[in-house]
Amino acid sequence: FKKIKAGGDGIGLTLFDPGYINTAPVKSSISYIDGDKGILRYRGYPIEELAEKSTFLETAYLLLYGNLPSAAQLANWEDAVMRHSAVPEGVFASIDALPHDAHPMGILVGSICALSAFHPDANPAIQGQDLYKSRAVRDKQIVRVLGKVPAMAAAAYHRATGRRVSPPVTELTYAENFLYMLDAMGDRSYRPHPRLARALDIMFILHAEHEMNCSTAAVRHLSSSGVDVYTALAGATGALYGPLHGGANEAVLKMLSEIGSVDNIPDFVDGVKNRKRKLSGFGHRVYKNYDPRAKIIKKLADEVFSIVGRDPLVEVAVALEKHALSDDYFVKRKLYPNVDFYSGLIYRAMGFPTEFFPVLFAIPRMAGYLSHWKESLDDPDTKIIRPQQVYTGEWLRSYAPASNRP
Ligand code: ACO
Repeated sequence: FKKIKAGGDGIGLTLFDPGYINTAPVKSSISYIDGDKGILRYRGYPIEELAEKSTFLETAYLLLYGNLPSAAQLANWEDAVMRHSAVPEGVFASIDALPHDAHPMGILVGSICALSAFHPDANPAIQGQDLYKSRAVRDKQIVRVLGKVPAMAAAAYHRATGRRVSPPVTELTYAENFLYMLDAMGDRSYRPHPRLARALDIMFILHAEHEMNCSTAAVRHLSSSGVDVYTALAGATGALYGPLHGGANEAVLKMLSEIGSVDNIPDFVDGVKNRKRKLSGFGHRVYKNYDPRAKIIKKLADEVFSIVGRDPLVEVAVALEKHALSDDYFVKRKLYPNVDFYSGLIYRAMGFPTEFFPVLFAIPRMAGYLSHWKESLDDPDTKIIRPQQVYTGEWLRSYAPASNRP
């Protein structure tokens, strides 16, 4: 602890809190988690109910505007998002300039950032803070981001195949249109499997928001400097790329393939307990119980497998979960499967390559990022985020010319 001047005559304390485990930098009314009970709610609605009854775009509206839309509001909202799904040609050109084997998440980060250059009307450095904060400008950026990100994600996917993304079909649902842009290959009559599209829509609902996780905190952090929303979202997507965060679903699949068969599980788990590596898709900063999203995904996996066939790695995943949940090491540390443990198996069964999994997380998480960005603009307590440090370096030294140094 260090005493600091806290304004007026007040004295405060600087707290050494690595990873901000005990620090709440914001008040927020967007989502609520009870990590001990395994509860997640968006604006008060249980995640289980939204996954069963809502759609991704309706849930995104709820997160952004606080209430479920009326039928007319929903129709206008869906129309506005889908109308903004065309991406500037220059963004596609910037994607084409990247190596064909670039990781799609790196491509997505770059293309979200490129939008900043194409939309100076959303840049407070150019237009001034007042216009930037106006409702009309904000709402415009929201529909732009939600509309364009799936198309840029599809382009990131096709950088490796060399093919062009099919232009959007705006009357399809959000998930259907995304699958269409990926798979239609110019055939306007192509339609994705409706149950697979619905499964992806549910995955989008589950991944839309999760309060102050690493990447959402990054949105708040970057926005606090007043930077434009696209740059803030690109930075947040960069944080999501990491294997301890949104990259974990990719790491799970690699891990399950590496384990290969149920017989190899005991040796693998011994390696985890000997700290040779972590069990990807297990453990969470907040959940010390089963992640409620993982429960829904486990059920959804069966629905997807009933259409496309059962993935043999499922047996490895189920046996690994069973093994870990009956092992003292994991029980004592309250390590349960998180959202990423089964999501990769669904994505793989649907035909997505492993390196694309974090992109499938990033697309819906834009709704959460934008909700926090919007909330931070309205919050009178918003300040530039500038934590303290505990200095541990040399105290005071005198410069010596290179010829006099040992
Ligand atoms: N495998 C093995 N041991 C683990 C794991 C794991 N997956 N997760 C935590 N532990 C152990 C730690 O080594 C530590 O043990 P110790 O007290 O003996 O040193 C203890 O459990 C507590 O873990 P912390 O590291 O303090 O937990 P923290 O909250 O910092 O980390 C995190 C959370 C990063 C998610 C961690 O559990 C992890 O690395 N999991 C694997 C990666 C993963 O699945 N990430 C996705 C998270 S969900 C998401 O981002 C959408």
